[in-house]
Amino acid sequence: MDIKTIIYDYREKINRQLESFLANKIEEAAGISPDVRDVVVNATEYTLRGGKRLRPIFFIYGYKCISDGDDNAIINASISIELMQSYLLIHDDIMDEDELRRGKPTFHVLYKDICEREFGDAKSVRFGENMAILTGDLLEAYGEEALANSDFDARYVRRALCKYLEIVRKVGYGQIMDIMSERKGSITADEVLTIHRLKTASYTIEGPLQLGAILAGAGERDLQVMSAYGIPLGIAFQIQDDILGLFGREAKIGKPVGSDIREGKKTLLILHALERCTDDERRFILRTMGNEHITADEIEAVREIVRRTGSFDYSKQLVRSNTERAIEAMENSDFRADAKEFLIKIADFIGEREY
Ligand code: IPE
Ligand code: IPE
Ligand code: MG
Ligand code: MG
Repeated sequence: MDIKTIIYDYREKINRQLESFLANKIEEAAGISPDVRDVVVNATEYTLRGGKRLRPIFFIYGYKCISDGDDNAIINASISIELMQSYLLIHDDIMDEDELRRGKPTFHVLYKDICEREFGDAKSVRFGENMAILTGDLLEAYGEEALANSDFDARYVRRALCKYLEIVRKVGYGQIMDIMSERKGSITADEVLTIHRLKTASYTIEGPLQLGAILAGAGERDLQVMSAYGIPLGIAFQIQDDILGLFGREAKIGKPVGSDIREGKKTLLILHALERCTDDERRFILRTMGNEHITADEIEAVREIVRRTGSFDYSKQLVRSNTERAIEAMENSDFRADAKEFLIKIADFIGEREY
């Protein structure tokens, strides 16, 4: 079967399970108060409004690397990582001050607007952020619950829960470094790659694969192969995300373009360009970094410098070389053939993605 069809089919099944899990949570919340219910309804809309569902798909394929057992239980368990994704995105958008996610208002903006409609403008930003922090926390707990109640051997579930917590921890460490990097004058390319490994690779590819594999009874060796595949592919994923964040189209990526510049984020694209541009260009880039009122023309001028200094090509090349490293690790593995084939193909898909 064609990889796009496989992804589409799993996406549908994952969405049905998310819907059913969250419908129970809406019911639970309705028994507490109408306001709590509304929050859970909005968290459900947010989770279901879009998203590629790559993480639960990697989760399912981690399992398939080891076992050809029935799909249903693993699909049900896989939503845990998508609930973690909703939690992380909601908090990330507060920190990055972004207003668009999956083509619609971010969660804190949604509740800022609700505040302004229902209670007036006073402290509406703080209100929106408060509700988004709380909703993120809820979704994190839902994710753990979906995994804790999954239908697998209790020893495997316990191990998977430990892995889930390790993933949350790693993303936390990565996000701390990411936020610090906005303020620090200098950061090395190695540090940026460490951040990518922690804040992205851990929860996007490596971790989800390992979670699924653990539920199939995988051993330490299997998990190491998943790291050898998942870490470079996750790094490639984040570098591609940074490229799309500067060169992509908002309508396609569903997120604001140029927001890394506005936030002063030192992506590899920018670091590499800063090393190779003229003094005037460096002054211009450093002036626009972190400027809240950056204009479309200024973003275009940064793009131009990134292209001219070869930084765009360099980042593209890094995406390719990391993708190749991942594919090689998978080719050398002794995982089940259909899972291997899928994971090799999806690596190419990630290296070329446009959204
Ligand atoms: C966005 O992840 C956050 C990053 C790690 C770059 P995705 O690009 O997978 O987002 P969705 O789930 O498809 O919206
Ligand atoms: C996303 O980091 C990693 C998370 C832990 C959510 P980014 O801030 O780079 O991702 P986007 O571009 O907002 O999706
Ligand atoms: Mg962000
Ligand atoms: Mg961020």
